Order: sequence, then structure tokens, then C-alpha cells
Amino acid sequence: MKKFKLVTTLMVVGLLLLLSACGTSKTGGSEKKTLRVVTDAAYAPFEYQQKGKIVGFDVDFVNAVAKEAGYNVNIEHVGWDPIFVEIEKKTADFAVSAITITPERQESYDFTVPYFLSRNEILVPKGSTIKSAKDLEGKKIAVQNGTTGQEVVEKLFGKNNPNLKKFENNNLAILELKNGGVDAVVADNSVVETYVKNNPKDNFEFIEDDGAFENEFYGLLLPKGSKLKGDLDKAVKAVIDNGTYAKIYKKWFGVEPDTQTLKDKQ
Ligand code: ARG
Repeated sequence: MKKFKLVTTLMVVGLLLLLSACGTSKTGGSEKKTLRVVTDAAYAPFEYQQKGKIVGFDVDFVNAVAKEAGYNVNIEHVGWDPIFVEIEKKTADFAVSAITITPERQESYDFTVPYFLSRNEILVPKGSTIKSAKDLEGKKIAVQNGTTGQEVVEKLFGKNNPNLKKFENNNLAILELKNGGVDAVVADNSVVETYVKNNPKDNFEFIEDDGAFENEFYGLLLPKGSKLKGDLDKAVKAVIDNGTYAKIYKKWFGVEPDTQTLKDKQ
């Protein structure tokens, strides 16, 4: 009888231990909320597809920010225009896509504090007569539709400029330059410079024009009024302050980031 009691007690204790272990594993880690993050993965080195995986500076950055803020993320390629539809409809939690914070976008969306300093730049075949933004006058130019690249060219040469060709993604704009359909592409400097460096056979070069193009700052794009903004802002700042940002920046760009300019903007 005594023996029977002992066995039962042991079984009960064992069961309790098992149950409590289950409980711990549930609260520890796996109960983190998973956020749906959308992107246009055709903008190397920020986000692009490699062997079916989305990789890039933005991917590493968002993973670091999510870890800091205590979320899991699932980054999905949807394309550039669909990003804005998804965020507007709140079918995604936020977007990362080298998205410049602009006053027009701020009317319809929220952004986190800035995380990247950028500027538009010109991509041309080596030896082109285009040496500045002014030289683009009368030339055929390709841009990604709905980007600040389109905006800066329209500011210089007017809207509905027949020489401006707009493409769904930036890779198609560059392809058009390769095929000789345009004389130049205007896009973000890091993208243009990475392309020149990684594709020496194309014989392209990049043209900077600090007089014509202004500093731009990227932010993570959120639905207007999103409750996530507080958490993400805090995490973006922490990742910049604790050196994780500089590590990721050096991995992708080989140099130290200008975090002071970023912080001055926050
Ligand atoms: N920074 C520019 C903008 O916000 C271009 C971004 C394009 N990003 C992309 N993943 N295609 O308009």
C-alpha cells in the first residue's frame, strides 16, 4: 500500500513538472508576436533575392530592430506599389524598402525615426557626356515609378516629361540603360554605386551632384496611427546607439556610417 502511494505521488510530481516545463517554454520565446513586414526585394544592397531568400542591409537591420523590440518578423516580397497599398489597408505591420521619409508620404503614413542617410545619384555608361544633373536635360532617363528618383527628375525637367521612362522596379530601369533605351538611371546613391562595383562588365559609372540632389533619410513605414511606432522608434535608436547598426553598415558598405547626421535628425 505504501509503495503504491509513493508511486502515485511520484507520478503526480512528475506530471506537474512536465506541465510547468510546458508552461515555461510557451512564455519563454515562442510567445513573441510575429510581425508581417513587406518589401520590394529588387533594390540591392538593401533588399534583394538570393537563392530564394530575401537578403540585404535592410533585412539585417530589421532583424536587429525586431530582436531589440521583442518581436519576430516575417519579411515578404510584395513589390514597390503594393507596399503602400498593404500599409494603407493595414494588412502588413510595417514596410522596409529603403523608403525615404517625405512630407507627401507623411500625410498618409507614419515613419519611424530615420535609420539611413541617402541621396539620389545618376548611373550612366562610362564616358557619357552626362557629368551633372543639368546635363540630363533632353536626355532619356529611367527611374523606378513612384520613387524620389522620379520626383527629383520631375522637379528638374517637369512632370509628364516625355523623356522620363518609369519602371515597376529599379532592376528594370537599369536593364533599360543596358539595352540602350535610355541615357541614364536616377536612383539612390548606395544602389547605384553597388551596381557599378558589382557589374564591372556593364561599364557604367556613377555621377554625384550635391547641388541638385538633397540628403534623404529612410524610415520604416507604418500605418498611420500604428501602435508599433513607439516600440520600433526605441529599438531603432538602441540599435544605432549600441553599435549593432555600425556592424551591419560595415558588413554591407565596408565603411563606418555617419550616425551623427542620423541622430541629429531624430
Ligand atoms: N528611396 C527611394 C524612395 O523612397 C527609392 C526606394 C526604392 N526602394 C525599393 N526597394 N525599390 O522613393
